[in-house]
Amino acid sequence: MSSRKKEMRRKALLLFYSRTGKTRKVMSEVGEAISGVYDVELVEVKPKIKIGFFKGGSMAKRGETVDVDELKVNPANYDLVVLGTPVWNGCPPPPINTVMKTISDLSGRRVAVVVTCAFSAGVTVGRIVEWVKSSKGEVAGSLVVKTMFGVRGKALEKVREFSRSL
Ligand SMILES: Cc1cc2nc3c(=O)[nH]c(=O)nc-3n(C[C@H](O)[C@H](O)[C@H](O)COP(=O)(O)O)c2cc1C
Repeated sequence: MSSRKKEMRRKALLLFYSRTGKTRKVMSEVGEAISGVYDVELVEVKPKIKIGFFKGGSMAKRGETVDVDELKVNPANYDLVVLGTPVWNGCPPPPINTVMKTISDLSGRRVAVVVTCAFSAGVTVGRIVEWVKSSKGEVAGSLVVKTMFGVRGKALEKVREFSRSL
C-alpha cells in the first residue's frame, strides 16, 4: 500500500472486557470485519483481581468499579471507538465502570457499543450511551449479541452486518 493511502486509513480502538471469552470473540469478529477500512487496535481491559460470579453481580448492580491494569489508551488518537462488554446483573460489569470513570473525554469521537448477554441486556446499553453523551462523544450505534447458545452462525452474521455500518 502506498504511504499516502496508509496515511488516509482511519483508526479504530476496540476496547473490551471479557470474563469467559464471548465478548473477546465478538470483538475479534468486529475487528476482522472493519479491518478493510480501519487500522484496528484491540485492547482488553484486565481487572487486577478475579471477580467472583455473585460478588461481581452485586458490584455491577451497584455501579461499582474495580482496579484494572493501567489503561494506556487515548480515544483522541482514534476515529472510532468500539466498547465491548458483557452484561452482569443487567448492568455493565465493574471493569467497564472503571473504563467509564477513567475516560471522561470523547470529544468528537464516534463510539459504538457492543454488548453480549445470555438473554437480556437490562440497562447496560443505556448506561454506556449516557457515558458517551456526557463525555461529548457521538454514538455510532449499538448492538446486543445473545450468547446463550454460543457465538456462531446467525449471531456472528449480525456482528459482521453491524460492523459494516461503522
Ligand atoms: C456475574 C455475571 C452476571 C451476569 N448477568 C447477566 C444478566 O443479567 N443478563 C444476561 O443476559 N446475562 C448475564 N450474564 C451472562 C453474560 O453476560 C454472557 O454470558 C456474556 O456473553 C459473557 O461474556 P464474556 O464471555 O465476554 O464474559 C452474566 C454473567 C456473569 C458472569
